[in-house]
Amino acid sequence: MKVLIPDKINAKVIEILQKAGLEVDSKPGISVEDCIKIVDEVDAMIVRSGIKVTPEMLTAAKKLKLVVRAGVGYDNIDTEAAAKLGIVVENTPFGNTNAAAEHTLALMFLLSKKILPGQAELKAGAWNRKLEATELKGKTLGLVGLGNVGKKVAKVALALEMTVLGADPFVDAEGMKALGVHKSDLEEILAKADYISFHLPLTKETRDMIGAAEFAKMKDGVRILNVARGGVINEDALEEAIKSGKVAGAALDVYSQEPPACRTLIELDQVICTPHQGASTKEAQINVGIDAANQVIAALFHGKIEACVNGVAKLRS
Ligand code: MLT
Repeated sequence: MKVLIPDKINAKVIEILQKAGLEVDSKPGISVEDCIKIVDEVDAMIVRSGIKVTPEMLTAAKKLKLVVRAGVGYDNIDTEAAAKLGIVVENTPFGNTNAAAEHTLALMFLLSKKILPGQAELKAGAWNRKLEATELKGKTLGLVGLGNVGKKVAKVALALEMTVLGADPFVDAEGMKALGVHKSDLEEILAKADYISFHLPLTKETRDMIGAAEFAKMKDGVRILNVARGGVINEDALEEAIKSGKVAGAALDVYSQEPPACRTLIELDQVICTPHQGASTKEAQINVGIDAANQVIAALFHGKIEACVNGVAKLRS
């Protein structure tokens, strides 16, 4: 059986698949068009976010049973088209949790401390000791989405003596209490939080969930973080909210279009930006790759579907 990997992946992943007796076709950087030409003999695919898995590709892949996303977000895969064709789509929900949580926390510190401007001024030859930072202790953090990453961020924020509000329909009051988080909803978070961090997938429901009306409800001087998916926050509305002074700062790792087209937003002094690198640690990339390889092996050899995200419960024959 053959596994196609149309993205850059750690060599260990290829080794695991080959050891299990699978043929591996590693094609990092291949275009969608070229991928369509070679998918007809493929039984499974492991993808990262570098390639779009389109309906045309899925239709051309006559033997394809499974697509595993080495990572959490799967918005680069047409999951509905896959479901119609009976192709299972899985993600690897755990391997990069820590990386994304640490990146969020690093950005939260940068939003509060004047580390970047201090460094820029010092390197330019100035000695400005008047830059005034703020402390996280005693502030309220609103987490919109309390999945694996949100939970890890909550744990550290609580250790920093922040109050943490969580909005997540899939975590009940008991679950929140066990975490030390106050069960909340978006409206309360908008009204009360000093920092709001988003940990949600991009879906029809979450696209543009934060626009001008939501920014208007926030506290003056709120700080915004997004290490989940661009498109959840409307970028034009965020730019306006920063320019009006409502939002004191934003830290963005993800964008509605990548690379980002919202240059006037990311060039603002109040914006700290990184190029979708939240999960790009050495450890996380190995973790998600190994998880993906093991999930392919479990599915192809044992029919076990471990982390399905498109409702297809069985491999097609
Ligand atoms: C993820 O969804 O796993 C992360 O955003 C990293 C990525 O897209 O590669």
